[in-house]
Amino acid sequence: SVLAGAPADLAGRRVVVSAGGTREAIDPVRFIGNRSSGLQGYALARVAAARGAAVTLVAANVALPDPAGVDVVRVESALQLRDAVIEAVADADAVVMAAAVADFRPVAPSRTKIKKTGDEPEAIHLTKNPDILAELGERRRAGEKSPSVIVGFAAETDDVLANGQAKLARKGCDLLVVNQVGENLAFGTPDNAATVLVAGGEPVEIPRGPKDDLARVVWDLIAARLV
Ligand code: CTP
Ligand code: CA
Repeated sequence: SVLAGAPADLAGRRVVVSAGGTREAIDPVRFIGNRSSGLQGYALARVAAARGAAVTLVAANVALPDPAGVDVVRVESALQLRDAVIEAVADADAVVMAAAVADFRPVAPSRTKIKKTGDEPEAIHLTKNPDILAELGERRRAGEKSPSVIVGFAAETDDVLANGQAKLARKGCDLLVVNQVGENLAFGTPDNAATVLVAGGEPVEIPRGPKDDLARVVWDLIAARLV
């Protein structure tokens, strides 16, 4: 297996990975969602477990089997993901936010199924979801007990480096893995290519390859920051 011979450099560490994509209810049968498959987050969880970490995987709407030896917490919405991540990071050394979190949710989901009436449909009013990654950074800045390494993911389509650097600073994380979107990369594919932006350091290019390879490089960078 690709995980054979993995170093045990994360033994004794607790890590949290979020994966998948949140769903925001419109009514009991409909939601606002996104195209995240959870493959990259699951690869990160598997690689960390293979390297000896105690892993909590917070999975939002992922159609993948639980990785062996990983504690999986299944959630649906951004609010549920936030609560699960905040609870899981209490004793964690590192957190990786690979989940695609909906930026907005319907303000007041209908308790009953919305029906066609023949008239124009009602508008769906949205409100902002909490920014979980930014909250993790703020808690650490405020001196609260926090993971020593905080990692975000971002998919950018243009001005990748400038947008990514601004996002890294805004979120207060240590590493930001910026995916290259398009050309059959990222969503639902086994391969990925990325640039890892490093707070106070040089970017690291990860060439196109299996999501396990990207996961390995990300944990190498995290392990080097764990003291
Ligand atoms: N994220 C989060 N909570 C949110 C939105 C995003 O924790 N409400 C995390 C994601 O898990 C990811 C990182 O923030 O690790 C970047 O997500 P992204 O959508 O690229 O950032 P946004 O700040 O939402 O910016 P944009 O306007 O580009 O969507
Ligand atoms: Ca977003």
